Amino acid sequence: MDEKKVTTFYTDDHDKLDGYFKCFQKTKRQDYAQSRECFEKFKSGLHRHIAWEEEILFPLFEEKTGMTDGGPTFVMREEHRQIKALLEEVHKKVQRRDPESDQEEQQLWEVLKQHNHKEEAILYPAIDHVASDEEREAVFEKMKTIQSGPDS
Ligand SMILES: [Fe+2]
Ligand SMILES: [Fe+2]
Repeated sequence: MDEKKVTTFYTDDHDKLDGYFKCFQKTKRQDYAQSRECFEKFKSGLHRHIAWEEEILFPLFEEKTGMTDGGPTFVMREEHRQIKALLEEVHKKVQRRDPESDQEEQQLWEVLKQHNHKEEAILYPAIDHVASDEEREAVFEKMKTIQSGPDS
């Protein structure tokens, strides 16, 4: 079996979520049902991704490095709060069938892009570096217990 890396798996998940978001944006003025489906996949997938990070991945990094408050995971958790707030802004408009959410989407996209980039370039490789094969394996096992977001 191929050795599973945190960096590879989580980067692929970012890309998958980006795809759902792009689908939502592309279809929101033409096909409400389709765009809503893409948005729901994006929203529940992003909530799950953040739960995986905050409940499983970041605690491992914090335990291995002793870096908690003021460290990189502290900053990432702050950004997650911002991302969730912006996601909720767009969600409210989707629920009202209001496609005029370009500005909120733009803000969300900008925060998310730079957030994902920092994780992919710095945090995930650092986790792969400090974690043993067994610890990495345990991360992927625990992830199976978190299947979807809190409000999906
Ligand atoms: Fe994150
Ligand atoms: Fe992430």
